[in-house]
Amino acid sequence: MERSRIALPIGITLDRFIKSKQDEYPNAAGELSQLLRDIALASKVVNREINKAGLVDIMGYIGQQNEAGDEQQKLDVLAHIRFSRALSKGGEAAGIISEETETFTDFKNKGKYVVAIDPLDGSSNIDVNVSIGTIFSIYKRKTKPGTKLTKKDFLQKGTEQVAAGYVLYGSSTMLVYTTGKGVNGFTYETTLGEYVLSHPQMKCPSDGKIYSINEAGLQQYSDPTIERYLTQCKKDGFTARYIGSLVADIHRNMIKGGIFLYPATSKYPKGKLRLLFECNALALIVEQAGGLATNGSKRILEMEPTGLHQTTPMYIGSKQLVKSLLGQSKKK
Ligand code: AHG
Ligand code: MN
Ligand code: MN
Repeated sequence: MERSRIALPIGITLDRFIKSKQDEYPNAAGELSQLLRDIALASKVVNREINKAGLVDIMGYIGQQNEAGDEQQKLDVLAHIRFSRALSKGGEAAGIISEETETFTDFKNKGKYVVAIDPLDGSSNIDVNVSIGTIFSIYKRKTKPGTKLTKKDFLQKGTEQVAAGYVLYGSSTMLVYTTGKGVNGFTYETTLGEYVLSHPQMKCPSDGKIYSINEAGLQQYSDPTIERYLTQCKKDGFTARYIGSLVADIHRNMIKGGIFLYPATSKYPKGKLRLLFECNALALIVEQAGGLATNGSKRILEMEPTGLHQTTPMYIGSKQLVKSLLGQSKKK
């Protein structure tokens, strides 16, 4: 047959993949599957809005600040609305806490799950066409379905996540997620409007030669371990890569191997990254892919959250690199 007429297979779409995983559990009611599909749908809408950001007047600041005091941009707000709406209409999530809101929203339904989300990560990169992302964590609610949600439903340790993922709006758009049994990555096929399995069973290389840190703030870092570690990296021939979009920095290190560091600084004495919206999801994904994520003294996933917008230092990535950083800190 003429080569051009061979119908090559499309591959496994996200919907089919989720369904096949659900079928492995005969008693699963499909609620988590539906919730993941709702998130995927919202991410497609956000992807569309990001792609046309330069064409319509949705770029730039909206003139408000979010809880952490960052300038909110229109796309932050739009993404928040898209994900909240998809989840509330989907009916499987009982509520949501987003980086963009002070407290959680109760959808007042019978859903068993709650979602913590950074709807748009790396927002300072929007105006300059650099990769941005979405980060999400899914937990089973602690209180009884059908009753009022409480803070307790959201203040759960990362180990309690039933699923977590990120979407990277990059040179291509990807959705990467885990339900605690490995990590799978899907690339968005725009003409089909479908995510297609492109990175099955992702593994973070156990070693690497990339470090990612906002080194400009180094003199502010209270912990001398970091400086010592970076000096060692330089001696060992590392290269530095820092995008300033956490999802993009982590994704690159997941593929190429590397370590991402965001320590406490004088500007952010307790670290900048948010435990519930950013760190827990990425820690679960990286650990599920064979890497490590720590706050310097404890696994990120084992931190007991006390506040919805709590921040933490985070060191995350290839196992050997994180171990060697922790080794440096023992030399204090
Ligand atoms: P967000 O856009 O959701 O507020 O997150 C920005 C975060 C994260 O994506 C990135 O790694 C970090 O801020 C960059 O911080 P610095 O500019 O301080 O390096
Ligand atoms: Mn973020
Ligand atoms: Mn954000």
